[in-house]
Amino acid sequence: MIEVRDITKEYPAPGEPLRVLRGVSFDLSEGESLVVMGPSGSGKSTLLNIIGTLDSPTSGSILFESLRLQDLAADDAAAFRNESLGFVFQDHHLLPQCTAVENVLLPCLAGGPVTSENENRAQELLDKVGLADRSNHFPSELSGGERQRVAIARSMIRRPRLLLCDEPTGNLDAKRSEKIGKLFIRLRDEENVALIVVTHNAEFGAMFDRCVTLSEGTLHD
Ligand SMILES: Nc1ncnc2c1ncn2[C@@H]1O[C@H](COP(=O)(O)OP(=O)(O)O)[C@@H](O)[C@H]1O
Ligand SMILES: [Mg+2]
Repeated sequence: MIEVRDITKEYPAPGEPLRVLRGVSFDLSEGESLVVMGPSGSGKSTLLNIIGTLDSPTSGSILFESLRLQDLAADDAAAFRNESLGFVFQDHHLLPQCTAVENVLLPCLAGGPVTSENENRAQELLDKVGLADRSNHFPSELSGGERQRVAIARSMIRRPRLLLCDEPTGNLDAKRSEKIGKLFIRLRDEENVALIVVTHNAEFGAMFDRCVTLSEGTLHD
């Protein structure tokens, strides 16, 4: 589904440029899950942002099915992100004034008014993440793990093909991290969504299909 080829990313710096990514290549199939580990500052978020069309590489190419991501104009990149990608971050980024179900429905607003099909999908996802009975609760009424599960339901509302997850359990303890890991695996299997998950947590990382480490700007097995 995705072919990442020889991605480099440099930032200008006094003297030598900062070469964060020095040739990153990998493939990911439909419904496959890949974990990226690596020290802080090794470029994991940079790589996810480039795959998510939120940042552009200095060189290299990414093919998503037949779409060459680096050739997309800004509008087309936004449409691609809306249709095909979901994002999960370390912080849940829920809107405090909206209930759980309203937060899950937020990405639908880009396409016009919320439909009853959208509402059914939101309820189905809250059920999958184990929060069916909390749909009308506000984020302040939920625990950290529950908020992150709402954020995961939100990331899935438009049936993305690929979820990009940047340290999704960074704020959670081991027990809650394991629960989130099981949830991602369930979504992979039931919704056939591919996953790229950045984490520092080796135990959490071991739950997924493949694990690679980013260091010195390249990926290692
Ligand atoms: N916009 C930017 N301008 C300059 N340097 C940046 C920018 N974004 C990230 N960096 C640098 O790139 C390196 C990798 O950052 P990042 O991808 O956030 O690492 P990680 O997510 O692995 O901790 C760091 O040294 C960081 O300071
Ligand atoms: Mg990061």
